[in-house]
Amino acid sequence: MPHRILIIDDEERMRWVLCKALEQESYEAEAAGDGIEGLKMLDKHSIDLVLLDMRLPIMDGMEVLKRIKELYPSLPVIIITAYGSIEMAVAAVKAGATDYITKPFDIDELVIQIKKALDVHRLVDEVEFLRSELSQRYQDMLLSSKSPCMQEVYELVRRIADSDATVLLTGESGTGKEVIARTIHYSSRRADKPFVAINCAAVPDNLLESELFGYEKGAFTGAVARKAGRFEVADGGTVFLDEIGEMSMNMQAKLLRVLQERSFEHLGGNDVISVDVRIIAATNKDLQYAMKSGYFREDLYYRLSVIPINLPPLRERKEDIPDLALYFVNKFDKRKAIKGISKQAMDILRLYSWPGNIRELENAIERAVIICDTNAIQPAHLPISMQTPKKESSVLDIDIPDEGISMEALEMQLIKKALDKTGGNQTKAAKLLGITRSALIYRMQHGIT
Ligand SMILES: Nc1ncnc2c1ncn2[C@@H]1O[C@H](COP(=O)(O)OP(=O)(O)OP(=O)(O)O)[C@@H](O)[C@H]1O
Ligand SMILES: [Mg+2]
Repeated sequence: MPHRILIIDDEERMRWVLCKALEQESYEAEAAGDGIEGLKMLDKHSIDLVLLDMRLPIMDGMEVLKRIKELYPSLPVIIITAYGSIEMAVAAVKAGATDYITKPFDIDELVIQIKKALDVHRLVDEVEFLRSELSQRYQDMLLSSKSPCMQEVYELVRRIADSDATVLLTGESGTGKEVIARTIHYSSRRADKPFVAINCAAVPDNLLESELFGYEKGAFTGAVARKAGRFEVADGGTVFLDEIGEMSMNMQAKLLRVLQERSFEHLGGNDVISVDVRIIAATNKDLQYAMKSGYFREDLYYRLSVIPINLPPLRERKEDIPDLALYFVNKFDKRKAIKGISKQAMDILRLYSWPGNIRELENAIERAVIICDTNAIQPAHLPISMQTPKKESSVLDIDIPDEGISMEALEMQLIKKALDKTGGNQTKAAKLLGITRSALIYRMQHGIT
């Protein structure tokens, strides 16, 4: 569908010339001789862009512009001004005009401006659409819980969302750290600004620096043009630093400065760039341990953990398994053919230890939904390894062969394994096996004789 452009100009000749030129460029053109007529046409037709002359009878251009911006805030308006009235053009841009062009102008130049304005408008629309879709997706998450520790987490998230305080999310892989980070962003006043995530483990150190802070042209080989860093892109919004525990000491020092001053420089640049960003960091590492071992800066740790939030593993919030499982069934069962999960299958889900947490549960249900050929998920639809639940403490999985097995030989193997693991330390080996050191020595001697 061709874009429709409205020309508001009191000079009939100008209207005619512009209409012809635009039609030649395959635009549809409408024209009005004054502001009142122009506003009426905006109301009647769907217009994609306005060309607005500043010198108009009845209502002057500035007034018309303000009215348009009130009624259609995102509609692009290009101002046409007489030569020598730059000040007025600047005032118009401040009042929301997209761009301006001074008379006399070249039609080709105007057409380029129109194309540019329509492109930008389309991108802005697209970003807005994607953002609202994403935000909707995060509102659709299952953010309620029957488990007291998760209820506490959600309550805390609600309370701190609107503050600018830095958040440190910790928890095993798959416990929902990124989900919580996005929930915080989309329920804060920053929601309509970017949420910019960067995985510190996935990007090599030197690249991480240029990704985060941006660079000037020529800052290093390959820096062919100036590039904004993620902190700038996120201005007004949130930066999510995922897997912060993997960040090198060198980068940690640089990040600390940003946290302290909310400003930085591009690589190869001198200008200090200030940004307004909220920082949320996440890790599945034990940062306290990393700090004690000298791999994580203590000062950075305290800067990051203004609000620490620990997400419990799924095995510690088993009461949430049924709701989550049903939520995922609904999510993946596009045909709406599955009514639920059979009691036996639910028992298996509840008994399992979920080392991969919510992500593992999500994957298991996605698979079950695909292979489910009845109206409820049955044990047979779950992975085999889940169907025969092992005791959580059982580490050995031995099949007894038909010819039988020697307990004594097994015991010796176990003792040997424990000693190997502890580098021959009998006290530690005995502890691993749950017996006293003297019992271990007794068994070793009797096994050997
Ligand atoms: N409350 C929730 N409701 C629905 N789905 C969730 C919820 N929490 C997490 N998930 C799902 O579980 C999966 C893992 O979540 P997420 O990526 O946030 O975990 P993570 O802690 O960042 O994991 P990792 O440490 O591996 O990066 C995702 O697919 C996510 O959609
Ligand atoms: Mg993650």
